[in-house]
Amino acid sequence: MCGIVGYIGVNDTKEILLKGLEKLEYRGYDSAGIAVMNANGVHVFKEKGRIADLREIVALDVMANIGIGHTRWATHGVPSRTNSHPHQSSSKRFTLVHNGVIENYDLLKREYLADVTFVSETDTEVIVQMIEKFVYEGLDVLEAFRKTLTLLHGSYALALLDEQNSDTIFVAKNKSPLLVGLGSDFNVVASDAMAMLQVTNEYVELMDKEIVIVKKNEITIQNLDGETVTRTSYIAELDASDIEKGTYPHYMLKEIDEQPAVMRKIIQAYQNEQGELTIAPEIITAMNNADRVYIIAAGTSYHAGLVGKQFIEKMAKIPVEVHISSEFGYNMPLLSEKPLFVFISQSGETADSRAVLVNIKEMGYQSLTITNVPGSTLSREADHTLLLHAGPEIAVASTKAYTAQLAVLAILADVTAKSRNLDPGFDLIHELGLVSNAIEVLCDSKELIEHISREFLAVTRNAFFIGRGIDYYVGLEGALKLKEISYIQAEGFAGGELKHGTIALIEDGTPVIALATQESVNLSIRGNVKEVVARGANPCIISMKGLNMDEDSFVIPEVHELLTPLISVIPLQLIAYYAALHRDCDVDKPRNLAKSVTVE
Ligand code: F6R
Repeated sequence: MCGIVGYIGVNDTKEILLKGLEKLEYRGYDSAGIAVMNANGVHVFKEKGRIADLREIVALDVMANIGIGHTRWATHGVPSRTNSHPHQSSSKRFTLVHNGVIENYDLLKREYLADVTFVSETDTEVIVQMIEKFVYEGLDVLEAFRKTLTLLHGSYALALLDEQNSDTIFVAKNKSPLLVGLGSDFNVVASDAMAMLQVTNEYVELMDKEIVIVKKNEITIQNLDGETVTRTSYIAELDASDIEKGTYPHYMLKEIDEQPAVMRKIIQAYQNEQGELTIAPEIITAMNNADRVYIIAAGTSYHAGLVGKQFIEKMAKIPVEVHISSEFGYNMPLLSEKPLFVFISQSGETADSRAVLVNIKEMGYQSLTITNVPGSTLSREADHTLLLHAGPEIAVASTKAYTAQLAVLAILADVTAKSRNLDPGFDLIHELGLVSNAIEVLCDSKELIEHISREFLAVTRNAFFIGRGIDYYVGLEGALKLKEISYIQAEGFAGGELKHGTIALIEDGTPVIALATQESVNLSIRGNVKEVVARGANPCIISMKGLNMDEDSFVIPEVHELLTPLISVIPLQLIAYYAALHRDCDVDKPRNLAKSVTVE
């Protein structure tokens, strides 16, 4: 979703800002802009489209040592040059970039800014005009900034330039992520450390409702009462090479191929010196104290939660409910007496999930976040965190984070089971090793999977994924992957459910991808395939070795039945990748989507 960068120092800032914005491209955006300030004033460059389009219009001869930049994912107003950030106050003294949503912007407009002519349709312009209004009324810029913030309802990460304070970037945040990066003779601002790794890996985290006065050689953090806050910095444990594509044509393909290594990393990270799987005792106590686990997540992470429910119920024998976070927010089920909330989120920033976390914390319930991003909002705010160790996931379509989520959920289930003297029935370390090898085999079968993708999806406008039990959940994920990057309308169904309505959509040649990895339902899912074939469907059966039959299109290696989602998803990820490639779609940055969905 939207991204923010800022720089103040001794070097020319244009290239630093543009490079920073390029690092945030993966998060999804539809327009971008930068503002740089020098002795001649503030120069704003913005454009609809890609950073490459913005680069074309940035005047190379404008030199400046201070600037801010933004990638916008439209919420208020269409994607356009006018609506893109930075936005300026009427006199052009103040220039602002903003991530988040101001819920009461219309009210503020009517109450405070009735005589102001607005240029854009955005909520952001209201903020910058309010700051100017309060300065006209006699406040200094910091007081005006603070007063404006106290009137805002909603989420914001802000970076502000003031033409009359040419040595300062004013920064604030509430609910939307924002960091200040430290350097020698310069400081930076970024909504994601990755953006500014090019210049520094030392960052200071900001808390909600804090303001930072960022100068070249110092930063001052204040709360909204103007009291100074001290905070130590941390080193972002990110390797700049992790966020490069290397020789890969797309991040998605690189991240699919990284999955065997991620499995091994997870096994290592969760193993103690005796070679046993281990999880912080307080997390296991929280699991054991719960009479029911509520998994809260969105999108792919929700699909991982559905599989996680099977792991926890079958291995640790604790009942689990899985909920879509945006639904749970306003439609809370009757809770059990001692619930434990488990938030699954690759980014750790999903606003819908965070809204639930805030709510259940107020109710006094315990929470655990399973995330890929240490220090992310959901990680900071939950009682406990388990990390995915998947490395940065840049492609919008989640792949390695999904399999990492499954592996960590399996480990959580396994360690909890053992703490309850339950025998999970298999050696998870050994089985995850087999999973890792199986993923490697599948990643080596790209040619065959590309062929399958062409054969089944070359010209179709829709596709169905079917499975039973755990295969159904993987089908949901396969359908999501396909639709989000290839724009083929794809849906996942429980094998037995298709005939209750959706079978009406089956026509000659409609692709139906069926998963058959579970012995107990192998014959029933094949029965469902026959039903659609009788109506003209073009079936693609993906089965597991040992259960395979002549009619199958692809056979995955054999792993423990409960762990099949970790590998049956790989051909589905690759099928989606090749379908998008053949349709000339932007694989890593699909239209309308954002990597980190920070608005509710
Ligand atoms: C799909 C995808 C999304 C995310 C969803 C939740 O490939 O990536 O569906 O899974 O937006 O995001 P996180 O996991 O960051 O909370």
